[in-house]
Amino acid sequence: MKRFLSILTLLVAFIIGSYYYDQKSNEILEADFSQSLSNWFKLGNFFLYKNFHKIFYINEELVYEENLPSIVLLHGFPTSSYDYQKLWNLLRQDNRFKSIVTFDYLGYGFSDKPLDYEYSIFDMADMVDRLLLHLNITSVYLVAHDVGDTVVQELLRRENLNSQNHFKIKKLILMNGGLFTDIYKPIITQEILRTKYLNSIVSRYFFKYTIFKYSFSKVFGSLTRLSEQNLLDFYNCIRYNSGNLVLPLTIGYMNERLQYGEAWTDALNETVIPTLFIYGPADPINPRNKFPQKIRDLLPNVKLSILSELVGHYPQFEDTFTVWELIKKFIN
Ligand SMILES: *[C@@H]1O[C@H](CO)[C@@H](O)[C@H](O)[C@H]1NC(C)=O
Ligand SMILES: *[C@@H]1O[C@H](CO)[C@@H](O)[C@H](O)[C@H]1NC(C)=O
Repeated sequence: MKRFLSILTLLVAFIIGSYYYDQKSNEILEADFSQSLSNWFKLGNFFLYKNFHKIFYINEELVYEENLPSIVLLHGFPTSSYDYQKLWNLLRQDNRFKSIVTFDYLGYGFSDKPLDYEYSIFDMADMVDRLLLHLNITSVYLVAHDVGDTVVQELLRRENLNSQNHFKIKKLILMNGGLFTDIYKPIITQEILRTKYLNSIVSRYFFKYTIFKYSFSKVFGSLTRLSEQNLLDFYNCIRYNSGNLVLPLTIGYMNERLQYGEAWTDALNETVIPTLFIYGPADPINPRNKFPQKIRDLLPNVKLSILSELVGHYPQFEDTFTVWELIKKFIN
């Protein structure tokens, strides 16, 4: 009976969903871009990863001085490099960076989103290494957010193992990533995207703007109001290249964290690279009653900066100026 009911529910969902099915072309999505997102898109270039997949990146040269480090920004799930647009405008005023670099991982933002692909944190770490090699960048300050933190942990693991990366990390700044799987509280959308069968139906037929808006807004604090256009831009970056279809695959990082979490925590604990963690406490995913204490207890070498209690899961967007000041101070 129970089984019959779930099949019936899926069937009904499928029928209703098909009725509302609206796979949008990139041209239609682009028509809704804000000026700022259009400009972001125009700033970028494409890099061929593994000689096949197009990866969107931006590399803005600031100072013609070979020995200066670049600053590299790694974004989170399910958004894109555009998360850093506001911070970018502040960072580009700095003359201590050779360049500012960011990119969309495969499966995200304006990059290709193949459906027959083994997405993984290991592969994302490879992308960082390949891109920096391609750009001839050998020394970096690394800034990461959300799943980007996990990518960094994998890069650190490699660095600790006789430096398998083509670049050196001078300093590290992490923000609101799920460092601790035991206290990590995924939102319901993440859980749905991890549920077999249900995830392909939901991502294909029910990845609607109104639903997205409701669930995505929840991870933000109240310091900076998300405008309708902000939300639409985040949404359109996800939908670009039919990206909604790939969400059940890219979310696989959550299982990898369960599998490799210990090695990644150790990598962060053992690194000698100076590390700052900037934490927005109004983050339902990394709860404030446990997360900061856990950093202090388990990662004594990580410097922790806690932002205003009105800042949530996206510090670089919600409290850009403070994040910029903290970064400046830390790399001084
Ligand atoms: C790469 O960077 C090094 C210094 O970091 C420089 O000497 C070399 O000329 C650069 N190569 C290319 C191809 O730009
Ligand atoms: C990290 O290293 C410290 C010692 O420096 C240790 O007390 C702590 O338990 C370690 N954390 C983990 C997660 O192993």
